[in-house]
Amino acid sequence: RSDRTFTMIKPDAVANGYIGAILAKINKAGFRIVAMKYTKLTKDQAMKFYEVHQERPFYGDLTDFMSSGTIVAAILEKDNAVADFRKLIGATNPAEAEEGTIRKEFAESMSRNAVHGSDSDENACIEGAYHFSGTEIF
Ligand code: CMP
Repeated sequence: RSDRTFTMIKPDAVANGYIGAILAKINKAGFRIVAMKYTKLTKDQAMKFYEVHQERPFYGDLTDFMSSGTIVAAILEKDNAVADFRKLIGATNPAEAEEGTIRKEFAESMSRNAVHGSDSDENACIEGAYHFSGTEIF
C-alpha cells in the first residue's frame, strides 16, 4: 500500500464552513480519503491525542480548543503522504504559510489553524489508529 497520513479539520474551520473547500483541496492535491468521520473530542481525548505536547505552554489552550467543537478526522493516502500533506497545509503559523496552502487560505491564527497533519510516518500510524479501527479504513 502507498503512504498514509492523518488529518483533522479543526473546530475553527468546521465552524467557519470550510469542510467542503478543504476536502476539495485535499482531493485536488492527489490524496485519497481512506477513512473519514465527523466527530468531537472530549477534553481527555484531546489531551491524550496531543500528549507529545504536554510540557508545552500552549497544551492547555490547545486541548481546550480541540475539544471545543466538532472536527473531521481522516486518513489520507498518497505517495510521500506525510511530507506532501505538510507542504499542502503550510506553516503552523498562517502568517508564515505560503500562498496556495490550506492554512494560508483558511486558518485564523497559530492556534486556530484550520487543519492538523501528522509530522511523521510513525505518528500518522498512531494518530490514525487513535480515531479509526481497521474495519473503518477502506
Ligand atoms: P498541530 O499541527 O495540530 O499540532 C500542534 C498544535 O499546537 C499546532 O498545530 C498549533 O495549532 C498548536 N499551537 C498553538 N500554539 C503553538 C505554538 N506556540 N507553537 C506551535 N504550535 C502551537
